[in-house]
Amino acid sequence: MPLSAAEYLQQIQFQHLQPSHPTSEDYAARITPSEELQNTLLPEAAELSEQLLHTLLGMPRMSTFAVASLINKMVREMPADQCFLNVGTWCGFSFFSGILGNPQKKCIGVDNFSEFNPDNQARETFMRLYNRIRSQYTETLFYEMDYQYYFQHHQDPVGMDIYDGEHSYANQLKGLQIAEPVLAPGALILVDDTNMPHVHQATLDFIALKPDQYTLLADLKTANNCHPTFWNGIMLLQKTPAPSL
Ligand SMILES: C[S@@+](CC[C@H](N)C(=O)[O-])C[C@H]1O[C@@H](n2cnc3c(N)ncnc32)[C@H](O)[C@@H]1O
Repeated sequence: MPLSAAEYLQQIQFQHLQPSHPTSEDYAARITPSEELQNTLLPEAAELSEQLLHTLLGMPRMSTFAVASLINKMVREMPADQCFLNVGTWCGFSFFSGILGNPQKKCIGVDNFSEFNPDNQARETFMRLYNRIRSQYTETLFYEMDYQYYFQHHQDPVGMDIYDGEHSYANQLKGLQIAEPVLAPGALILVDDTNMPHVHQATLDFIALKPDQYTLLADLKTANNCHPTFWNGIMLLQKTPAPSL
């Protein structure tokens, strides 16, 4: 019996650098991918997925191997009729983390490249990698547009949702609320950058607006941004599963 997402996250361990240990916030001064891999101890063997995720570690990213492994597991174990939705792909790290090794799973990315995109570099990096990946992973879709516009058309039940778009309080709350009607019972929601007080508060307020419908499974802080464990903090939520017959 595989671990639940919450158990998996709880059992991720770090050898040397712990989430509470201060590290450099300078993006360029982060530890190397091989040091990050060495530091991260995953609780479950998933060799193929892990090897595929290793190939992503050299790309520009605002997340970590630990978080990528969690995303990959959640998409792998998502029911076949549900999809993975990632608003805010940037260069693609979190989105590709869900796709690799999961060719049967429908994965949808949305980004309007309105942030962190000098000289269109992020968009170009994303498109180059995405075009390569989608030739093999034919169930993937990408929409270059504002997420609020995208949701006017979205239909599939979402089993795994990441809102990693613009992180103002208003957009964070809206990003969670707008997906709510299409979230399947039991759906998992990953929120990152939760070290930021307004992101944390918007996520708690989202839960409070739907009492008894969402459970906070994990709320993990890091000492600083760009941290090689859980980056800038993560929260994991779950929509109440349907009652079993
Ligand atoms: C923090 S980055 C995402 C990092 C990415 N998930 C990763 O794994 O590296 C945020 C992204 O959200 C996108 N974004 C911001 N506002 C948006 C909006 N209104 N609609 C769609 N995407 C948006 C930005 O263009 C940017 O690429």
